[in-house]
Amino acid sequence: MDLLGKSAIVTGGSLGIGATIAIELAREGADIAINYRKHDAEAKAVAKQIEDFGRKCLVIKADVTSYSDAEAMFKQVLDTYSKLDILVCNAGINKDRVIWKMSEQDWDNVINVNLKGYFIYNKLAAAQFKDQRSGKIINITSINGIRGKFGQCNYSASKGGIIALTKALAKEVGKFNVNVNTIAPGMVMTEMAKNIPPEFLQKAVDETVLGRVATTEDIANVVVFLCTEKARHITGEVIKVDGGQYI
Ligand SMILES: NC(=O)c1ccc[n+]([C@@H]2O[C@H](COP(=O)([O-])OP(=O)(O)OC[C@H]3O[C@@H](n4cnc5c(N)ncnc54)[C@H](OP(=O)(O)O)[C@@H]3O)[C@@H](O)[C@H]2O)c1
Repeated sequence: MDLLGKSAIVTGGSLGIGATIAIELAREGADIAINYRKHDAEAKAVAKQIEDFGRKCLVIKADVTSYSDAEAMFKQVLDTYSKLDILVCNAGINKDRVIWKMSEQDWDNVINVNLKGYFIYNKLAAAQFKDQRSGKIINITSINGIRGKFGQCNYSASKGGIIALTKALAKEVGKFNVNVNTIAPGMVMTEMAKNIPPEFLQKAVDETVLGRVATTEDIANVVVFLCTEKARHITGEVIKVDGGQYI
């Protein structure tokens, strides 16, 4: 177990990719804190799986766009685990429309959750990691933040922003022994993907060179690797996990 004795925050840990990341970090020995906004029962089920490994899991209802919720979460995590080693920023939403039909609210909501939320958690973790002279930050972006996607001007802009945030922060905290990387998944079968019309899902499969859509484990495995010392010389990177969907 490569992460025994470590502690990790995973934002958006009630469902999908975040839930699997939380479970896989715990399988490697880390104690976990997840946050989420809506899915209470699902969040508790994730905690139960983590506790079955003999690890601890704090389940915290916190909106990632709220600075005060985030401060309270960090305090609770530090009070409970006495340190924090890993931040995985994963909570994200999409509100897809072509831009001429996109409301100001759909723009603001996506940018707030997907970009401001990442700023808040990256900032609080960076302050902690700088003082303790160690830490790993992994931000979940998307290949659509690199290539842009039809119908996703808000989402693509937010995900492109995460890439720039990751690179800039890697430069700021590298000298404090802190690694900051971002993973760019292609299509992954989760609740988010279920909102996508079937013809677009098939198009995504056809775009991959491996001919398959990712599982949440495909993403979580790379997160776990980046959290280990085996990845200690990797920082400021955008790692696509997309079956070759965007080559
Ligand atoms: N699925 C894909 O194909 C795909 C591809 C590339 C990148 N990604 C990225 O991967 C990440 C996870 O996506 P997913 O597919 O696993 O999505 P998902 O199944 O919809 O899960 C999203 C998670 O984020 C949480 N969340 C949403 N808004 C929140 C808020 N304001 N505050 C706190 N938590 C919030 C949700 O919690 P509640 O619902 O309980 O509030 C849930 O736990 C996202 O950043 C997404 O952009 C996904």
